[in-house]
Amino acid sequence: MKITDFYNYRKPGPKISMITAYDYTLASIAAGSGVDCVLVGDSLAMVMHGHPSTLAATPELMALHTAAVARAVKGKLIVGDMPFLSVRKGLGPAMETVEALARAGAQAVKIEGLDGHGDIIAHIVQSDMPVMGHLGLTPQSLNRLGGYKTQGRDQASAEKLVEQALELERLGCFALVLECVPEALAARITQLLKIPVIGIGAGRHTDGQVLVMQDMLGLYGEPPSFVKQYLEGRRLVTEALNAFDLEVKEGAFPAKPKKAAAESPYALAEK
Ligand code: KIV
Repeated sequence: MKITDFYNYRKPGPKISMITAYDYTLASIAAGSGVDCVLVGDSLAMVMHGHPSTLAATPELMALHTAAVARAVKGKLIVGDMPFLSVRKGLGPAMETVEALARAGAQAVKIEGLDGHGDIIAHIVQSDMPVMGHLGLTPQSLNRLGGYKTQGRDQASAEKLVEQALELERLGCFALVLECVPEALAARITQLLKIPVIGIGAGRHTDGQVLVMQDMLGLYGEPPSFVKQYLEGRRLVTEALNAFDLEVKEGAFPAKPKKAAAESPYALAEK
């Protein structure tokens, strides 16, 4: 999927699949799959670097991982996350982060929240860098939210989310990620907006879904309850590692070379 496919999206359209990728190897697998677009999420601070939250992601780290992903992914939209505080230090630093991500290969940026940085979102859009909004459970707000909790449960906070979603569309966002909000609220916002809404832990009625790749492959710890694991990655990788370990210790790997190896310059040493 390209950015123009997002601009031309008409509801109800085909569901959009988005997956995170942070490194060349998994990004190249995503590139060869049917998944529509790739997000270099700031969740990389946790998944790739072992931090307890996404707050540890920096512009430099985001650019480094975006460049690795961009070497693998061609012909699919690559969205780079603007990390914690990057839109809160004024326009100059925000634009420097946008530039770093764009030069690394991102074709769009994702920005969490709205209050206090709507003008920066508008400026980035007007600078021709497409912006994906992100509302609901915004992990960069962890300290204010006091934990990873479903957002928009009561009437007032639900109405605020609806207003913010409409405002992000008005500011020019090309899509919106809605994270951990009740299904009915996500459905309402999806109906109200013209731009596609991509849900995560937001139920069935959004225009698309996004997951952290290591969560859905079962590679990274205990995933949130809304995640479906399509692979038992940790078990399979552990089994492979244990098979390697055993074969090394038993002398079964490497196996005895076949005939061709006897012709190698080292043949004598191998006898
Ligand atoms: O950083 C991330 O991976 C994200 C997705 C979970 C939406 O923002």
